[in-house]
Amino acid sequence: MAAPPIQQESEVVTARAERRWATVAVAVVVALAAVAGYAGIYHGALPQARVETADPTTLHLAGEFAEGNLGSALEPDGSVTVRAVGQEYSFTPQCMVVPTDALVTFRATSADVVHGFLIEGTNINTMLVPGYISQLSARFTTAGEHLMPCQEFCGAGHQGMWAKVKVVDRATFMDMSAKARRLSCVE
Ligand code: CUA
Repeated sequence: MAAPPIQQESEVVTARAERRWATVAVAVVVALAAVAGYAGIYHGALPQARVETADPTTLHLAGEFAEGNLGSALEPDGSVTVRAVGQEYSFTPQCMVVPTDALVTFRATSADVVHGFLIEGTNINTMLVPGYISQLSARFTTAGEHLMPCQEFCGAGHQGMWAKVKVVDRATFMDMSAKARRLSCVE
């Protein structure tokens, strides 16, 4: 009659080991969930590394986003800066012209409510928030047109709010730049 006690004892040992490993497994899952949660909340709660502001009530009067300064500007280093403003329910300029094979930096803001700034066929997709300047860069390799539908609901005219980016070859852009300080393809 020695066998049953040994059998029982090994069962107890096995059950204890199983319980211990189950505890470890649950602890690992809880720890991973906590890490994921912390990482998400931590980065979501931090302000952007670089925040530029622009007063939406005086945009049109003076400064970087005054009407005469909007559009595409050729920089001394050969890159291009495009400045634009979104407002209910249009973008200014309505058609932005950029060259192929150059670093193109878009700087834009909103004059009223939150609008979307999305250039189809590129990974430019951001929000225009009144009070803040959004900046993103892109490089276009082929000439053509890209639509820019506003992708943030901004009011009754939202679905009619769009602009476009027209990519022209570099030589054409240089010719245009020789004639004007700010360029657009608004007709
Ligand atoms: Cu502007 Cu939707």
